[in-house]
Amino acid sequence: MTILITGSAGFIGSELSRRLLDAGHSVVGIDNLNDYYDVRLKEARLARIKDHPNFTEARIDLDDRTAVEDVFAKHRPQKVVNLAAQAGVRYSLENPHSYVDSNIVGFLNILEGCRAVQCRHLVFASSSSVYGTNAEMPFAVTDRVDHPISMYAATKRANELMAHTYSHLFAIPTSGLRFFTVYGPWGRPDMALFLFTKAILEGRPIDVFNHGDMKRSFTYIDDIVEGVLRVLDHIPTPAAAAAPEMPHESKSAPFRVYNIGSDKPESLMRYIEVLEDNLGLKAKKNMLGMQPGDVPATWADVDDLKTSVGYQPTTSVEDGVARFVAWYKDFYKI
Ligand SMILES: NC(=O)c1ccc[n+]([C@@H]2O[C@H](COP(=O)([O-])OP(=O)(O)OC[C@H]3O[C@@H](n4cnc5c(N)ncnc54)[C@H](O)[C@@H]3O)[C@@H](O)[C@H]2O)c1
Repeated sequence: MTILITGSAGFIGSELSRRLLDAGHSVVGIDNLNDYYDVRLKEARLARIKDHPNFTEARIDLDDRTAVEDVFAKHRPQKVVNLAAQAGVRYSLENPHSYVDSNIVGFLNILEGCRAVQCRHLVFASSSSVYGTNAEMPFAVTDRVDHPISMYAATKRANELMAHTYSHLFAIPTSGLRFFTVYGPWGRPDMALFLFTKAILEGRPIDVFNHGDMKRSFTYIDDIVEGVLRVLDHIPTPAAAAAPEMPHESKSAPFRVYNIGSDKPESLMRYIEVLEDNLGLKAKKNMLGMQPGDVPATWADVDDLKTSVGYQPTTSVEDGVARFVAWYKDFYKI
């Protein structure tokens, strides 16, 4: 099967591409390798897959409509996984336009491509940030998501609404995945674990927001990729009247939204402690207030995903952080 992955030089997309290639699929990877963070890391991720005979690289921008049309026309993918996006909550306060370009205009181009080739399934990245100021714990897909607190979150929620529209109008099966804080080897340099590791090793203080009173469904990369692979094989149909507990939008269209993440949230201070143990160093902590756009806690209710595809994240923070530190030291030759 030919599967189009966008964001194939990214943290999640490169690992997903590798797994699909290993399973014998052909992968077409779209990524513009932008410099939001270290391009050398993106190149190094790509180097793990680009020589595979069944991998085709398309180094284009998602918001380049003609280029995206050409990729769809040439490769006619049966399935598509949209992971390319301008990610990051904090940066969306500084550069909101890049979020609209990649996440809204770019996503529309993907939807149009899926429509043109009548693709069998589009899986796309949403985010736990769509829950905004929701205080109900754990976060369930039936909770309201109409109060985002960053442009990043607003674009991710918009993706869910746009996908539903295309599912309803053009019968394109789509599944949105609300990822919860993903970490692990080949991870993102703008995220806490990477920032903390670098700072601690360089003897610099780490910024600890909300004075450490934070909780997250920290989710190990392999558990995320396993979930994406399972969802990719689970093509939605309209839920009709069969499942009254389904969110409203699932009923008229082959459309689903799932949470994907660890259902055992961990405190930020414990996450830091595990990192310190693995590095054999104590962090100097710069205790700060809450960041605008950020939320004190996330906690994924993944019952839907368990029922639908048997999803069960298994990696503990202790194991996951140890594997990240081992990768980091190897990659940066420390
Ligand atoms: N990592 C997490 O914890 C997390 C949490 C919630 C949601 N997500 C979402 O999951 C997806 C993957 O995240 P990730 O952590 O792998 O991010 P990432 O930044 O590592 O990967 C995204 C990739 O997309 C590419 N890209 C961005 N804009 C593009 C454009 N306009 N055209 C072509 N390529 C473009 C980037 O170069 C990058 O390689 C994103 O949609 C992100 O918003 C991630």
